[in-house]
Formats: sequence, structure tokens, C-alpha cells
Amino acid sequence: MAQFYGTLLVLLLAGHSQTAKLRLQLMWRSFNCAVNTDYISQHKCLILEADRSLLTAELHYIKDVAKYNATFKLLMPQKPNTKFQKVIDVNVDICQFAKGVHGHRFMTVVIKAFGKQGSQLKCPHPKGLYVYPNINIAENLPAFLPETEFRIEMNFLTTETHLLNTSLAGFLYNSQKKIGKLI
Ligand SMILES: *[C@@H]1O[C@H](CO)[C@@H](O)[C@H](O)[C@H]1NC(C)=O
Ligand SMILES: *[C@@H]1O[C@H](CO)[C@@H](O)[C@H](O)[C@H]1NC(C)=O
Repeated sequence: MAQFYGTLLVLLLAGHSQTAKLRLQLMWRSFNCAVNTDYISQHKCLILEADRSLLTAELHYIKDVAKYNATFKLLMPQKPNTKFQKVIDVNVDICQFAKGVHGHRFMTVVIKAFGKQGSQLKCPHPKGLYVYPNINIAENLPAFLPETEFRIEMNFLTTETHLLNTSLAGFLYNSQKKIGKLI
């Protein structure tokens, strides 16, 4: 009986949260960066410990970059516990993107997540220290995404070389449902 009410509560909460525009929580498992040391002398890629939903990156560019691209891949399992498959795979010219040309919806999500620092993603990209605190991807994700594990691979590259490769792993979960299950 207790189990029945528990289930009912979960259903009610799930139903309620859907009408109240369900916003899933995001938790990062890992954030790795590999840099081309001809361009970037020092870097930090961190998951902020508080609730593991925010990222911080610091990159010290020692060379100017005239123009560059960003590639963005989103991978998810089709069903729980199956192989990760590419859901999104885009290659965006940042110089064009900054001008509002060839906008891609998911790229827009990603750039928005950088907050005010997003404006630093433009051309040319002068050398110097770039700090991107509190990158909040969760807040900008579309609401239709399911609860799932996912991976993101985002690289920055020029026609000659890769500047920075990042790989992220995380998962989306419904925190309200978790509360329901505990009761
Ligand atoms: C970044 O990834 C590309 C392609 O996957 C690879 O060729 C390159 O060596 C990588 N760069 C670094 C710094 O790991
Ligand atoms: C950069 O992106 C543009 C637009 O998608 C593409 O045509 C070009 O080949 C890309 N360049 C590199 C180096 O990937």
C-alpha cells in the first residue's frame, strides 16, 4: 500500500512538473580538455563542486587566432544502457556565427551558456587570458530533452590545426521525481 501511494505521488509530481514546464537538473560526471600547446599555454577545466551543475574554464592563449571553427557533438544512448549515438554533429564557423550567420540552435544554446563571456567567442580572437566562470548549460537546454546520460565533444579548430578539444559527460534527471521516490 505504501508503495502504491509512493508510485501515485511520483505520477502526480511528474504530471505536475510537466504542466509547470519541467526543467531537468544536470549533473556533470567529467570535463576534460586537451590543448594545443602552441596556442594555449595554460588551462583549467573544472566542474564546480557545489552541485556539479556548473563548469568553469580558463584558457591562456599565447597566439592570436584570426578565424576558427567550433565543432559540437551531442551523444546519447537510444535506450538506457545502450551504446551512445550521435544526436547532433555540427561544425560552425565562429566568425560567421558571431555575425549571426549560419546560426545553429544547439550552438546558440551552448554560446548562451557562457553568459556574458559568450561575446569573447568572436573573430579575430586575440591572445590573452580567457576566463569562463559558471558555464550553465542546464539553464539553456530545451525542455523536451529526456532524462538521460549524455556526452558532449566540443572542439575549436582552425584550417591548420585543433586549438582545444573538450569532452564532457553528464546526465539529466528530474529532481522532483527523486523526492517523490524518497517519500
Ligand atoms: C583534437 O582532436 C583532433 C581530432 O579528433 C586530433 O587530431 C587532435 O590531435 C586533438 N588535439 C589535442 C590537443 O588533443
Ligand atoms: C568551418 O565551418 C564552415 C561552415 O560549417 C565549413 O564550411 C568549413 O569547412 C569549416 N572549417 C573547418 C576548418 O572545419
